[in-house]
Amino acid sequence: MISCCFNTQEKPEKKAVTTKSSFRRLSFSDISNSTSSISPEDLSLSLVGSNLYVFTLPELKLATQSFSTSNFLGEGGFGPVFKGIIDDKVRPRIKAQPVAVKVLDLDGTQGHKEWLTEVIFLGQLRHPNLVKLIGYCCEDEHRLLVYEFMARGSLENHLFKRFIVSLPWPTRLKIAVGAAKGLAFLHETEKPVIYRDFKASNILLDSEYKAKLSDFGLAKDGPEGDETHVSTRVMGTQGYAAPEYIMTGHLTAKSDVYSFGVVLMELLTGRKSVDKTRPAKEQNLVEFARPYLKDARKLARIMDPTMEGQYSTKIAMKVASVAYQCLTQNPKSRPQMSDVVDALEPLQDLEDMNIEPFVYSAAMHELDDQESAKEHYHGHIHKLRSPKSAGFSDGLNRNSQRNHKGGK
Ligand SMILES: Nc1ncnc2c1ncn2[C@@H]1O[C@H](COP(=O)(O)OP(=O)(O)OP(=O)(O)O)[C@@H](O)[C@H]1O
Ligand SMILES: [Mg+2]
Repeated sequence: MISCCFNTQEKPEKKAVTTKSSFRRLSFSDISNSTSSISPEDLSLSLVGSNLYVFTLPELKLATQSFSTSNFLGEGGFGPVFKGIIDDKVRPRIKAQPVAVKVLDLDGTQGHKEWLTEVIFLGQLRHPNLVKLIGYCCEDEHRLLVYEFMARGSLENHLFKRFIVSLPWPTRLKIAVGAAKGLAFLHETEKPVIYRDFKASNILLDSEYKAKLSDFGLAKDGPEGDETHVSTRVMGTQGYAAPEYIMTGHLTAKSDVYSFGVVLMELLTGRKSVDKTRPAKEQNLVEFARPYLKDARKLARIMDPTMEGQYSTKIAMKVASVAYQCLTQNPKSRPQMSDVVDALEPLQDLEDMNIEPFVYSAAMHELDDQESAKEHYHGHIHKLRSPKSAGFSDGLNRNSQRNHKGGK
């Protein structure tokens, strides 16, 4: 690969980048002091063990048919994204696979730093609920990222784009659980990571609607030692960022938990976190809808009407209760992401059991206690619009008392 135009304004003071014999994740700070001077060779050396391909620009042109508009997938702050095929025409003996190639917009607001952050974090972190970074390209001023192709695009498109069929309730639950697992992994990995940009557009879906987090350009290493938080410039996305982070710049894993609560509300309601087209008091989803989450009758008023008849009130209430706790003002009172996973994951199985509601109604007559029979019935079939809200145990409270591995 030809040598790269990293910011040549600054003195090229090469920092020794250790080659990893045993795998220990490099934190961004390990090399951030030298982001302007680290050579591509140093970078690929420092990421030995992460199995990233270093592509050339001509290879990625070939893969994407010269970044043709017919391969255009979308565009965000980093730049345009194109579908491509990596096969042995592109690179001999490589495993053939579809990819998404993200190209840094050289006139945009993001740049080398975001690109490098993505390569360093996502290059080293592997989990079924994180999008896999396959490789990168760094030639002259060009910066590209090559990811596994996520066939169903972003959650944002599915929730908010017109002409896309509404996501059914069980799929929303599956997406919530997958995304929660991705965040829990980041928070509990050996060197914890704060994701900082959790939102519907950064949750990508594979062909089976498995959720994976993408976009690590804003990710930060979590606090170390006795530190309680990381101090940063406030960045992120309006409507998703936690209030204390916006006010103080103090970043903790609990800021991600808040953002997760916002996405959970979007899944429940089908409303955007910020929607300027709605009446003034409904524009901010959390401000407007959080008070509706604790009461079944109120919740029914804000649930996405396209899911009518697909969910049980009881389970929707449990999900709403998780969202409510994630959105608590005091970050310390928010659950950890592992608690959220523990609370949401079992609901998927319970929801599956609801698929045959008439079996329940027949069995109901055999129950001795008529009251509990009614509760059972109302709890299972939302179409009946049961106003019942009480009586379920709160998975989060129960779980947060447990001592979770790696919890902070
Ligand atoms: N790995 C991928 N597989 C398939 N499509 C992708 C992939 N990565 C991105 N996309 C598509 O490209 C679009 C733009 O993604 P990108 O992450 O650059 O921007 P964004 O998330 O919409 O905005 P932001 O800059 O705020 O993150 C996504 O909405 C998605 O449709
Ligand atoms: Mg994104």
